[in-house]
Amino acid sequence: MDSSHVDGELTSILITEAEIKDRLAELSREIEADYAGANVLLVGVLKGAVMVMADLARELSLPITMDWMAVSSYGSGTKSSGVVRILKDLDSDLSGRRVLIVEDIIDSGLTLSWLLANLKSRGPESVEILTLLRKPDAAKVDVDVRYVGFEIPNEFVVGYGLDYNEKYRNLRSIGVLAPHMYDGS
Ligand code: IMP
Ligand code: MG
Repeated sequence: MDSSHVDGELTSILITEAEIKDRLAELSREIEADYAGANVLLVGVLKGAVMVMADLARELSLPITMDWMAVSSYGSGTKSSGVVRILKDLDSDLSGRRVLIVEDIIDSGLTLSWLLANLKSRGPESVEILTLLRKPDAAKVDVDVRYVGFEIPNEFVVGYGLDYNEKYRNLRSIGVLAPHMYDGS
């Protein structure tokens, strides 16, 4: 859906569908150069990364395979709890694989630093990270993110896979959720 279907629920559109598409194409060219000749395993983090994964995978001129993990670090609110649980583990064996984690957003970075350590302990040849969005707080944790789509301000965003209470994932652009949608005002 486009933003006309969530009228009054967003304060602004931060990134348009066309901007996302162009940026994923740029990142794909970098990935193709970095992984030439390799069979990359893309590991998507459910559910937020589904749109990035689908569009990135189709844009890449590389023979990739895909796997998925579901972890939970957020409850129903808008702040990271710092507690990570595996809700669904990978089906693939990572030994000797070149792994690229595909994420929707890095906020505190807690989820990703935990995930990175977890995947690295499984004997892959390499593990790198791609995130579509990164918030300023992510700079506080020492996670080396190879590919970043957009640096965004410290606001709660929805759309293109990102949700608030499971809503807005199918919005084609990325917008800032209006505070009255979650602070009760
Ligand atoms: P972190 O552990 O604080 O880096 O949070 C990572 C996860 O929190 C992301 O993968 C998202 O699922 C969720 N998250 C963080 N910020 C936002 C946001 O602005 N909108 C929607 N989900 C978010
Ligand atoms: Mg996520």
